[in-house]
Amino acid sequence: MLPESATGTGYSYEECSATAEWLMSQTEVRPLVAIVCGSGMGGLADILKDPVVFKYNDIPNFPQSTVHGHAGRLVFGTLKGKPCVCMQGRSHLYEGYPIQKITMPIRVFKLLGVETVIMTNAAGGLNQDYKVGDVMIIKDHINMPGFAGNNPLVGPNDERFGTRFPCMSDAYDRKLVQLAQELGTDLGYSDFLREGVYVVLGGPSFETIAECRMLHRLGADAVGMSTAHEVIVARHCGMRVFAMSLITNEAVMNYDSQDKANHEEVLETGKQRSEQMQKLVSNMVVRLEHNNNFAC
Ligand code: HPA
Repeated sequence: MLPESATGTGYSYEECSATAEWLMSQTEVRPLVAIVCGSGMGGLADILKDPVVFKYNDIPNFPQSTVHGHAGRLVFGTLKGKPCVCMQGRSHLYEGYPIQKITMPIRVFKLLGVETVIMTNAAGGLNQDYKVGDVMIIKDHINMPGFAGNNPLVGPNDERFGTRFPCMSDAYDRKLVQLAQELGTDLGYSDFLREGVYVVLGGPSFETIAECRMLHRLGADAVGMSTAHEVIVARHCGMRVFAMSLITNEAVMNYDSQDKANHEEVLETGKQRSEQMQKLVSNMVVRLEHNNNFAC
C-alpha cells in the first residue's frame, strides 16, 4: 500500500512518528510548548535559550515554506527553563500543498509531547475599530475553506490522533485568553490588545472590497490565510491552543479608499510589534503548567 504522503491526503501516524523520532534523535529537548510564528514574527524564536535549529529541508517529511518573511526553520530550546519548539515559518494553502500536509507539523508536535500550542499570524483588520499594529487575541474562527470541504481532517481518521468528529466550540482555550488579557494589562498593552474572530481564506490574492464587507457582516474581525486549519488539527489531537493575530493592515472596505493591501506592509508591521508580542508570549509560557495540572 502507498504511504499516505504519496496519495496526497497527508501523512500516516507512522510517518508523523518517524519524523518525531528523527527529531528526538537529534536533540534532547522534549518540548511541552510549541510556538508557530506568523509572517514577520519569526523573531519569537530568538527568545529560546540554547537553540537547536533544523531547516525544514533537513527534516524528513516536513512541508517547506516558500514565502518571503518565513525562515523555514524549527528551533528547539528553553524559555525560562521550559522546553519549547518554535516554527519559524509555516506553509500555506496558496503554496499548493494539500491542507493535510500543511498541518502535519502540528501532529509531530503532539508526538514530541507538546501540550500547548501558541500560534501567531498576520491579518487584515475588518473590525472598523482596529488599527494597524493592534494585536487581536483570537477567541474563535470561521473556517471558509472548510465550508467548501477543505478541512484538514478530511480523509481516513486515525483514532490514535483523535476522534472522527471533534468539537470546535472550545477550540481557543478560554483560560489562556484570560491569562493573555491579564498579562497584557500588566505589561501596559491594553491600548492595542483586542479580542475577536479570525476568518481564514485560501489566498494568495488579498480580498476584494465586497469580500471584506461580507466577511465583516459574517462576524469576522480579522482576515488571514493560516492558523485555523492548524488549530483544528491541534484540537483534534487534544492540545490546548492560544492564538493571536497582528493586524498588519486595514482591510479595504470602501470604494473611495486608495489603500491597497501588500505583503511588504505586513512584514514591516510584524517587525515593529514583534518585541511586545515576544514579551507577551514568553510571560504566558512561564505561567503555563503541564500534565493537566494547569495554573491557568
Ligand atoms: N488579508 C488576508 N491575509 C492577510 C491580510 C489581509 O488583509 N493581511 C495579512 N494577511
